[in-house]
Amino acid sequence: MSQKGLANVTAGETALCKLGGKSEELYYRGYNACKLADKYSFEAVAFLLLKGHVPSDDEISAYTEELVLLTDIPFDVEKTLRGLPEDANAMDVLRTGVSLLGIFEPENDDYHGLVIANRLMVLLPRFLAIWRGKSVPKNASIAEAVCIACCDSDVDDVFVDAMNQSLILYAEHEFNASTFAARVTSATLSDMYSAICSAIGTLRGPLHGGANEQALYLIKSFDNIASVEEGIKQKLINKEKLMGFGHRVYKTKDPRSHKLYSILDSLPHTDLFDIAKEIERIMMDEKQLISNVDFYTAVLYEQMNIKPNLFVAIFVFGRIIGWSAHVLEQRANNRLIRPLAEYIGPDPID
Ligand code: CMC
Repeated sequence: MSQKGLANVTAGETALCKLGGKSEELYYRGYNACKLADKYSFEAVAFLLLKGHVPSDDEISAYTEELVLLTDIPFDVEKTLRGLPEDANAMDVLRTGVSLLGIFEPENDDYHGLVIANRLMVLLPRFLAIWRGKSVPKNASIAEAVCIACCDSDVDDVFVDAMNQSLILYAEHEFNASTFAARVTSATLSDMYSAICSAIGTLRGPLHGGANEQALYLIKSFDNIASVEEGIKQKLINKEKLMGFGHRVYKTKDPRSHKLYSILDSLPHTDLFDIAKEIERIMMDEKQLISNVDFYTAVLYEQMNIKPNLFVAIFVFGRIIGWSAHVLEQRANNRLIRPLAEYIGPDPID
């Protein structure tokens, strides 16, 4: 018997991430991801996921210096990104940037997976910045780079800190659809760039990363709290899927959503947050559906003056680390990923 959507199928092993279970928590290599977000930089969490341990002070200084040396962009890549249409889809821009870099700097024995992982972490926000006519200083942290690339207002420390935390919460999530796509691609012994392009294409859909943009449209469709209850109930009667709710693994809470709620609670109050909280209350009462990570990131990024069509790109800037770490893990113990299908077509026809 096949299992639709591979639900509840264990499709491999990983030492990178543990989630769900009784406590419904999320751990990166044994560390609680929400607590990492309180205390560490995105770079430190990238180090943990890619190299296997929390960096010491010396290690994180050396790593940060190493990342600064990876910020140069090949002239032809920059020229192409600059020339892409203003109304292009941000995910197409990122996928194209990765693909182009793969042409100018193909993977080989010296220029290997870990170097490419670090380079993509540093360059992806810069690709978006170039396309948007902005420039990111060489020594900007990843969270600063993302804010500069995406925010349409001045970037302050409060925004950078909130962005740093959201990137950490997005960094890794076991065998989610885009990571699984990256693993399938790399299991054929394909190159790192191809695996990341597969993942970007997979993340884009509204059932996965694309939900954060759609969640904002849902929240913004209400002018005030009083109109929420009836509106949400009507959508549920119409059997609409409300983006930012539900999860394949978490059933009682998505810990990332709780963390994002507390980040928003610490920022200046907005009506949008109040409306979002009311939507969440009604979804729980009516459907027992939890908000997922994409619900409150939508509120946060809107408050940071980021255009909704860039929300899913920010997911990429975080998840690039999870994807890369999974590709390296897959390669270390590889076997082609090739499941079977249950045949439901006609019997052989003569
Ligand atoms: N709104 C309304 N009903 C829902 C929702 C929702 N967001 N999510 C699930 N349901 C209902 C669904 O209609 C079904 O009801 P019934 O049994 O009466 O047909 C039941 O709950 C089970 O849903 P499912 O779609 O079979 O569950 P799944 O495990 O296949 O899908 C999901 C998980 C996340 C794709 C789904 O909950 C969904 O489509 N959510 C909206 C999109 C979204 O927010 N995606 C972001 C996911 S978390 C971050 C990420 O990975 O990107």
